[in-house]
Amino acid sequence: MGAMAGALAISANAAVNVIPKPSFVDEREGFFQIQGRITDNVRFVQEANIPAESYRLIVAPAGIYIASSDEAGKFYAMQTLRQLISEDGKVPCVTIDDTPRFKWRGILFDDCRHFFGKEELKKTINAMALNKLNVLHWHLTEDQGWRIEIKKYPRLTDIGSVRPGSPLPVVLKTPGNEDHWENNNIPYGPCYYTQEDVKEIVEYAAKRHITVVPEIELPGHALAAISAYPELGCTGEQFEPWCRWGVSEHIYCGGNDATIKFLEDVLDEVCELFPGPFIHIGGDEAPKTVWATCPKCQKRIADLGLKGEEGLQGWMTDHFTKYLAAKGKRAIGWDEVLDGEPGKDTIIMSWRGPQGGIKAAARGNDAVMCPVDPCYIDNPQGLKDDPYEYINYGFQATLERCYSFNPTAGIPDDQAGHILGGQGNNWSEYTWNGSELEWKMWPRMCALAECLWTQPENKSWECFKARIPAMRQRLIRELHINCAPVE
Ligand code: ACM
Ligand code: ZN
Repeated sequence: MGAMAGALAISANAAVNVIPKPSFVDEREGFFQIQGRITDNVRFVQEANIPAESYRLIVAPAGIYIASSDEAGKFYAMQTLRQLISEDGKVPCVTIDDTPRFKWRGILFDDCRHFFGKEELKKTINAMALNKLNVLHWHLTEDQGWRIEIKKYPRLTDIGSVRPGSPLPVVLKTPGNEDHWENNNIPYGPCYYTQEDVKEIVEYAAKRHITVVPEIELPGHALAAISAYPELGCTGEQFEPWCRWGVSEHIYCGGNDATIKFLEDVLDEVCELFPGPFIHIGGDEAPKTVWATCPKCQKRIADLGLKGEEGLQGWMTDHFTKYLAAKGKRAIGWDEVLDGEPGKDTIIMSWRGPQGGIKAAARGNDAVMCPVDPCYIDNPQGLKDDPYEYINYGFQATLERCYSFNPTAGIPDDQAGHILGGQGNNWSEYTWNGSELEWKMWPRMCALAECLWTQPENKSWECFKARIPAMRQRLIRELHINCAPVE
């Protein structure tokens, strides 16, 4: 793969129009004419010295040759080939050597604020595969809904997957009025994934070389679980899953051993369902107001000599990181977990900006970068007339802004190995259905995919802009995605 060093630009009108842009492209005269099934035309060779997920693709008039060391490389070569075939079955003669920049190339899919279901997940997975994305971060538990069946605790879904109403979208359009929530009083749910559904999605993703990373939030964003089992909270009060967006101050009690045991039981079932190496344990936006006056939480802080409530969250992060490590899994936490000074095994997901990831790498933790600017693709995309633009948190994640993402910006070279990659986060407070979800994801995820796959020196916004219309058409025609326009 040494030839990849001198990467060529793909000209705007070239027949080779591939997203994400490959590392090295040598285009020649002529074409191969496909007859019958594409796989019958292709010769596969395994070459041990080709890096993981990488491939060489050679198209000549006499045939197509693909070499890789692993199944993922072969799969990605096929995704490239798909994009090279013209409508009349011609493939331009070309040699492509290709290898990803990062091993974590993800999307966050929030099924809690709104629930999208298996078919929408599969559509997302199909579009991810075409763009060589390989991590589906599945947000499954929240204040507003618990979305995964846990056999030992049926009330989590019986009670926790139904909320009595949702905020009215019209209210959200009023600037400065974000704290005024008008409930539509329409019950939402029950909606959740059975364990059979989960297995189906994990298997569907695995066939496309996508790892599913479940997120079980702790200690915050837990109101749906506390509504199902009030004893999990500090006060024992009976709540309902939340009918508004934001951050509830009612979080799991960190001082109650029964709550810790509950979370261990949940993680036991989750680890069985998700064979991948990562489990996300949340850790963001956990207000400490209730812990500050909870006798059990204060007792744990005193008994263990912890540094206040932040220390208690740190203790929980470490406890569950070790619990998961004993099961062969790596724990991931949002960047707030750094305040609790976690051990080096916890992976940090940097969302409030790049600072969390920069700090993580400096202290020796691995990190995944998804800074709110530009990776939060629930933010407006800056279209002239966007029917799905409800609220602005202050950022515009335009396609061009997404394309500027560099996960290692601000990271010293000798720490860059700690940056596993990055992801786009598609939170769903203001996304009511699958069609809106797709509009927000695509084509912005194509831009982020290129940032995660392609070396920075090989990227060009002008070149991407010239290539994206063909990908957009493919997403619409082949995958039936409601892809937003490119303006
Ligand atoms: C987050 O956006 N609260 C991780
Ligand atoms: Zn407590």
